[in-house]
Amino acid sequence: MDLTLRLRGLTLSHPVGVASGTFGYGKEYEPLVDFQRIGAIYTKAITPEPRVGNPAPRLVETPSGMLNSIGLANVGVEAFVSHKMPFLRSVPSAVIVNVAGALDSDYEAVVERLEDVQGVDGFEINVSCPNVSHGGMALGTDPRLVAALTRSLRSRTKKPLILKLSPNVTDIGATAEAAEAEGADAVSCINTLVGMVIDLKTRKPVLPLGTGGLSGPAILPVAVAAVYKVSRRIKIPVIGIGGIVKWQDAVQHLLAGASGVQVGSGTFANPRLAQEVHDGIAAWAAQNGVASLADFHGG
Ligand SMILES: Cc1cc2nc3c(=O)[nH]c(=O)nc-3n(C[C@H](O)[C@H](O)[C@H](O)COP(=O)(O)O)c2cc1C
Repeated sequence: MDLTLRLRGLTLSHPVGVASGTFGYGKEYEPLVDFQRIGAIYTKAITPEPRVGNPAPRLVETPSGMLNSIGLANVGVEAFVSHKMPFLRSVPSAVIVNVAGALDSDYEAVVERLEDVQGVDGFEINVSCPNVSHGGMALGTDPRLVAALTRSLRSRTKKPLILKLSPNVTDIGATAEAAEAEGADAVSCINTLVGMVIDLKTRKPVLPLGTGGLSGPAILPVAVAAVYKVSRRIKIPVIGIGGIVKWQDAVQHLLAGASGVQVGSGTFANPRLAQEVHDGIAAWAAQNGVASLADFHGG
């Protein structure tokens, strides 16, 4: 049975990865997981400089999900190369670096710095953060800005380039088409949805910045619909993310048109979720006579 996912020159032995921001830099999970059964680690977002992130509380539980407002806390690209890559190089999973920034030049700087770093297998571009170059608007909300950033990054890397789409738009297919047209190798979707929780005692939002990103089982149907819409608009692979807490959820993503999946906040409740999803997909495929990932598409 062929469950490999091919992205440019990179072959992922199987299609289940762990989503950015929910798996640290990998080492945190070392005692708990079998990296042979995790196709790819999508790292926490990396920016040129270290970031402390937003004030606490940064998380709040919601019905069937959670809101986060981490503020892209990360060690910065230099510490990532010297302190985090040595471990990541030692595991069999592919390493896809999630890249973020407040300026277009931040993305360019991170990709350029990591292009020749051994063990970095590809880039996933997070266009959901507020971008100062464009008046604080998230790049991912405007297909023209996604196109321009994809073009610029494509000229800087020969590695797989994945554009991670925001669901906080009217037409997610348009941003996917923009990424494809400028040379992205795949898109991943979805990032979190904007949400707010208000504390009745203080009469204020629980998260200091007001809103946060909604993830978890609550967003599964939104994510499956996004994968379905996007995969009908583009030819490059779609990597499904959102709401996966069991293997059946991942199979829904694959049937909707995804060529691979990422497991996100479900890992917080079950650190071995990604490998269990991998095993479940393989068993389901065997029982249903599915010979390759492509056979999932279209149901
Ligand atoms: C605590 C937390 C931190 C996250 N950090 C990032 C990040 O740095 N970059 C990014 O592209 N997505 C980030 N995400 C979004 C996830 O990668 C994923 O797209 C989203 O949570 C939906 O998947 P899920 O429902 O399986 O959690 C984060 C999500 C959570 C819960």
